[in-house]
Amino acid sequence: MNSFEKSNLQQTDMQSLQSRILSLKKLSSLYTGNQEYTNLLKLYKKYLNYKDTSSPFLSVFAKKIRKVNRATQSQLVQESPIITLGTMLRILSIDQSLEEKMLKYGPENIQILSFGAGSDLRFQQDKYSKCSNIIELDFKESIDYKQKSLPAKNNIKYVACDLINIDEVISSLTPLLQKKHMHTIILMECLLCYLPINIADAYFDFFNNVVTENKSELLHYVIYDPVALSKNDSFINIMCDNLQKFNNLQMYSLKNIDTIDDYLARFKNKDLKFDCKNLWDYAAARDDKQKLFKLCLVDEFEELKLLLSHYIILNS
Ligand SMILES: C[S@@+](CC[C@H](N)C(=O)[O-])C[C@H]1O[C@@H](n2cnc3c(N)ncnc32)[C@H](O)[C@@H]1O
Repeated sequence: MNSFEKSNLQQTDMQSLQSRILSLKKLSSLYTGNQEYTNLLKLYKKYLNYKDTSSPFLSVFAKKIRKVNRATQSQLVQESPIITLGTMLRILSIDQSLEEKMLKYGPENIQILSFGAGSDLRFQQDKYSKCSNIIELDFKESIDYKQKSLPAKNNIKYVACDLINIDEVISSLTPLLQKKHMHTIILMECLLCYLPINIADAYFDFFNNVVTENKSELLHYVIYDPVALSKNDSFINIMCDNLQKFNNLQMYSLKNIDTIDDYLARFKNKDLKFDCKNLWDYAAARDDKQKLFKLCLVDEFEELKLLLSHYIILNS
């Protein structure tokens, strides 16, 4: 991948980071008794304020992080209420999926592989410290910055890579895996849509056959991804065209996979039981939905429904 393509993909993490911080601030104002979001925000402060003085390699990446830092502190930077709400729902739903799995199998029996982990700091939280093994994968700049800016944790390992180079990724990842009867969660939060379909296919084979040695009961996915709901889905067509035109991003699966059944067939594992919800249905089922909508000052429900219906949370 050339440096231009890489930089465009890294930029998606800067947008994600900015939205995540704005959303965490809102969540901590809503759930004042919950220290989790407050502690996570403290960690983000440390991450955002890390001054890399030694490495010229990291300076471009660190500059982008500083820009996000300024934006999240400025009163002038406003985000679309719908984007903030979507990010809050994404955070809540993924936390819930991971927590349910930890409760069900016990954290000591779990390893998590976070593909395209980027600036997601959730695994730094104490509640994940009992997980047996956590491996985060992303481009080298993102991994190096994270490792330098945050304290090391015994159970967290990193793979700095271009995920397109699948053979290299597999050979770096394999020695870090814990195999024996370990429940393995594959986390892909806003990542799968950026992977070429044949590369994603090869990863699914690797997860099925090598990581969990064909024991489907040990393989679990937590995926958050945009999806097309029909052929020529106009929302998705506009989204893909805009991302191509303004961000130079290719959305490989979005134009080619246009039903949820076809999306689920990608995982090539008939034994997996999938729970697939879109974000609108997830929000509708929450007791606190009115509070969340109000907090984000959302009053345009048609637009909200259209956007949220095109994002899925997949659990297996
Ligand atoms: C939209 S961001 C999501 C980050 C994080 N998972 C989150 O939800 O906040 C996508 C991430 O995938 C990473 N990524 C995309 N394509 C990649 C590739 N080919 N190799 C390594 N990382 C990649 C980007 O660097 C970025 O950190």
